[in-house]
Amino acid sequence: MNKIQIVKGGRSLQGVIEVPGDKSISHRALILGSIAEGETTIDGFLHSEDPLSTASCLRKLGVKISRIVEGETFNVIGRGLGGYEEPKEVLNCGNSGTTMRLIMGILAGQKGKNFILTGDDSLSERPMGRVCKPLRLMGGKLFGREGGNKAPISICGENLKGCVVGTPVASAQVKSAILLAGLTASGKTSVIEPASSRDHTERMLKAFGASIEIRGELGRNIVINPGKTLYGQKVLIPGDISSASFWMIAASIVPNSNITIKNVGLNPTRTGILSIMDLMGCNYNIDQESTIAGEMIGTIHVSTAKDLKPFVIQGDILPKLIDEIPILTVAACFCQGVSKIKDASELRVKETDRLKVMARQLCKLGAKIEEKDDGLIINGDSKFIGAEVDSETDHRVAMSLAIASLCAKGTSQIFRADAANVSYPGFWNDLEKLF
Ligand code: S3P
Repeated sequence: MNKIQIVKGGRSLQGVIEVPGDKSISHRALILGSIAEGETTIDGFLHSEDPLSTASCLRKLGVKISRIVEGETFNVIGRGLGGYEEPKEVLNCGNSGTTMRLIMGILAGQKGKNFILTGDDSLSERPMGRVCKPLRLMGGKLFGREGGNKAPISICGENLKGCVVGTPVASAQVKSAILLAGLTASGKTSVIEPASSRDHTERMLKAFGASIEIRGELGRNIVINPGKTLYGQKVLIPGDISSASFWMIAASIVPNSNITIKNVGLNPTRTGILSIMDLMGCNYNIDQESTIAGEMIGTIHVSTAKDLKPFVIQGDILPKLIDEIPILTVAACFCQGVSKIKDASELRVKETDRLKVMARQLCKLGAKIEEKDDGLIINGDSKFIGAEVDSETDHRVAMSLAIASLCAKGTSQIFRADAANVSYPGFWNDLEKLF
């Protein structure tokens, strides 16, 4: 990773854009397609490093996936539940936590087969005990560094038994791993989350024919009944609101900007950023709303707003905007007053420690940010001056720093800008298009 991107401040952004497919849904379309019976066709797939890591792992497990070409439909021929081949090679999940954690859930129940999963330097430091522990409760045999908390992870497939699991963190990756394991377990599996996390797995499992019930206060209890065959489907993937968020905030804070983003996924478990934009007093509206393949979509129009108000992010909204904290930190630098991000210690175990890295990098541009154990305090009304900043290999940091640099006087250099390829390979081209 060595691309240096130069970004000149003081230029407004105008135009219509379509962001690439949703990353979470892209992973799930491949994974559910791989364990279904028959063919799944996928449209709108995110052709970026993370979902391609999932495709590469599934191919090593014997899943037939036709050539994936950006913008083209392709298909997955499922092997049914329990039908993966024992791979000759280690499964490399690259930078992708979703790949590793979701696939662990399926592999744990592949009786009599053995697997080894690995990842890059960042993924190898991320916590996997949160998946290993509940899967062991179900009878899974999973091993790894630090008692199974860190990759490489090895898995000896077993017959699993359903159980009731309360997850200590509201994580869709953990919840999904347990639900996927529950598909082949004997008896029901019930997951109870401390707050609702994104529900793409539940929606897609339902569409593929699984027996799944959503219960309890705010749908925080999800129950999967095993024994149902999944059938291949046609999956149409909407644009990723996490990628759109860079343009939504850019249009709000870069003077004289006006951006329309088409076909954005608006699943209510993902739209926390809109609630914060409401608090800030951003200028936006949504039209062309519809539902495709069980997921809501719409077109978002955003234009620059003056006198943006500071905000506080805390509590149950966190999972609904977890990936948008880096860009919302940039937004807070341009609000009039002090913004606070609390209850966000999960940010410390993402692709980088995003609280530390965002504070460190934005301060180089002139931000006034205080780092707390579980969040940030951001003094608004910043005057940014162009500087040398670094993504520190994190895709969302790279793109957030690009938007921050647009608000600086002078020119900035963003080191390791190619980190954006993990979720949004066309980001730098789209930025050029909007000038
Ligand atoms: C994801 C869930 C979230 C999110 C990640 C994608 C998913 O992670 O941050 O980018 O696709 O399930 P956690 O489940 O760890 O919160």
